[in-house]
Amino acid sequence: EGTVDYSQLTFDPGQNELIVGEAEWHCDEFTKGACFSRGKSEEDCQNYIRVLLVNGDRLFTCGTNAFTPICTNRTLTNLTEIHDQISGMARCPYNPVHNSTALITSSGELYAATAMDFSGRDPAIYRSLGGLPPLRTAQYNSKWLNEPNFVSSYDIGNFTYFFFRENAVEHDCGRTVFSRAARVCKNDIGGRFLLEDTWTTFMKARLNCSRPGEIPFSYNELQGTFFLPELELLYGIFTTNVNSMAASAVCAFNLSAITQVFSGPFKYQENSRSAWLPYTNPNPDFQCGTIDYGSYVNLTERNLQDAQKFILMHEVVQPVSPVPYFMEDNVRFSHVAVDVVQGKDMLFHIIYLATDYGTIKKVLSPLNRTMGSCLLDEIELLPPQERQPIRSLLILHSRSELFVGVRDQVIKIPLMRCNFHKSRDACVGARDPYCGWDLVLKKCTTLEESLSMSQWEQRITECPVRNVTVDGGFGPWSGWKPCSHSDGGSVGAWANDRRGSLSPSPGL
Ligand SMILES: *[C@@H]1O[C@H](CO)[C@@H](O)[C@H](O)[C@H]1NC(C)=O
Ligand SMILES: *[C@@H]1O[C@H](CO)[C@@H](O)[C@H](O)[C@H]1NC(C)=O
Ligand SMILES: *[C@@H]1O[C@H](CO)[C@@H](O)[C@H](O)[C@H]1NC(C)=O
Ligand SMILES: *[C@@H]1O[C@H](CO)[C@@H](O)[C@H](O)[C@H]1NC(C)=O
Ligand SMILES: *[C@@H]1O[C@H](CO)[C@@H](O)[C@H](O)[C@H]1NC(C)=O
Ligand SMILES: *[C@@H]1O[C@H](CO)[C@@H](O)[C@H](O)[C@H]1NC(C)=O
Ligand SMILES: *[C@@H]1O[C@H](CO)[C@@H](O)[C@H](O)[C@H]1NC(C)=O
Repeated sequence: EGTVDYSQLTFDPGQNELIVGEAEWHCDEFTKGACFSRGKSEEDCQNYIRVLLVNGDRLFTCGTNAFTPICTNRTLTNLTEIHDQISGMARCPYNPVHNSTALITSSGELYAATAMDFSGRDPAIYRSLGGLPPLRTAQYNSKWLNEPNFVSSYDIGNFTYFFFRENAVEHDCGRTVFSRAARVCKNDIGGRFLLEDTWTTFMKARLNCSRPGEIPFSYNELQGTFFLPELELLYGIFTTNVNSMAASAVCAFNLSAITQVFSGPFKYQENSRSAWLPYTNPNPDFQCGTIDYGSYVNLTERNLQDAQKFILMHEVVQPVSPVPYFMEDNVRFSHVAVDVVQGKDMLFHIIYLATDYGTIKKVLSPLNRTMGSCLLDEIELLPPQERQPIRSLLILHSRSELFVGVRDQVIKIPLMRCNFHKSRDACVGARDPYCGWDLVLKKCTTLEESLSMSQWEQRITECPVRNVTVDGGFGPWSGWKPCSHSDGGSVGAWANDRRGSLSPSPGL
């Protein structure tokens, strides 16, 4: 009751439970009082959960705690059982409006990218906990991070990757935001004398998502990402700046393209008055190896002078296709999730995009170079007068479900909704990779429901005739429902509806 801001969702596969935050984790009156005395509002001086990570049988979670961030380690099966409580500084923002990201590796290190102080002027990518020494990005150095808005982070191979947008330090005419991919080696232990307690492997590169043309139109500001590890493919959503006309695009990046840019030349500026120039990469095949100088030091293969000097890559990471996968004007996408669907003849990528006005667009990713993407559907989560921004999007591939967090509720959407299509024409014409017409059962089914592939008809060769097939979800096919807290029992965890009922909620 009274819980708001479902911006963090995580899934515990062991218990088949969605964890949406912890309702009973309030800040104490003393902390609140200190927050008010520093001029913050009642709304700001609450505990907003900003880190929610499943770590083995524990849940590691941090909250803003009235501008005094704290983290706790809890039993996953009993969230009221707290093992440790530690400072949230450099792990969680102070201010709930600051954008941050965090992950825990299998060896227990926490990587967080967040503002480190009350005012938000000291952003950092910081590693702590686990067995390795704590490290951060250089402090108050705009060449490392320049007013960043952190978006996402991933643990991939020997590296941890971070995706964000920031003021472009290399752009010397006016203030411009660029999107970035950055990475550090997980085995980095920092420098000695130089770069002490600081990354020696931090590098970043610009991500390009533009509409081609004589003068390309750039979607400069990364808002969300989704990584498909099996394909090493990153989907990113990009928008224009808030002060200009609203427009959004989806671009996909191959991890190999990102890696390639990190092997190329750096962009380097001798001093603040000189131009940014390309500079040959001294370690083009850099691999995160270490050099053993003695019994206790092993520094990475990077020369420390180079590590301090070369931060930004010269080349720009280009997406898989020169034309963005999907573009739309007058809308800002805020979150993205991708499902890979087995169709009759091939695998399809379905992109779910949260819009700033609170709907979800379902888009079929381009099938080949000639055919573009298709807008298959636009899902209205709430009645038009109750529309509100979406705060989180979590896809559960194993259950074919999408969870959407808004201010005061979490909504579950089943992704396969074939039985809505009543005729063969409607079913096949929807061009929905989840659905096909079963010639024997004479109904629109999923591939699993059909008795055999040969009697399952699906023809996805073009976009559906009408883009938006149905208006919203308030009609007969409304298959989603707000999730509610379980009555009593586990605090903050919402137990899945095991009956699998798809009835609309009483509220609708
Ligand atoms: C949380 O608990 C796990 C498992 O006991 C432990 O390995 C880890 O160090 C703890 N983390 C913190 C921050 O206390
Ligand atoms: C959960 O942990 C709390 C606090 O340690 C304890 O009081 C309670 O009995 C536990 N609940 C269950 C079901 O184990
Ligand atoms: C965080 O990101 C959101 C979405 O892009 C943006 O509206 C907001 O202004 C950002 N917060 C800050 C402090 O810049
Ligand atoms: C970004 O991509 C566009 C479209 O593919 C291209 O025209 C432009 O040159 C690229 N810009 C940079 C800086 O790489
Ligand atoms: C990504 O790059 C790899 C290696 O260059 C290539 O084999 C793969 O086809 C690329 N994937 C896409 C989606 O372009
Ligand atoms: C990780 O780094 C080690 C040491 O440099 C290297 O041998 C290994 O190939 C790297 N692994 C990957 C997946 O790149
Ligand atoms: C340093 O090297 C030793 C011996 O090669 C190895 O056991 C240890 O894990 C290394 N430490 C780090 C932080 O890479």
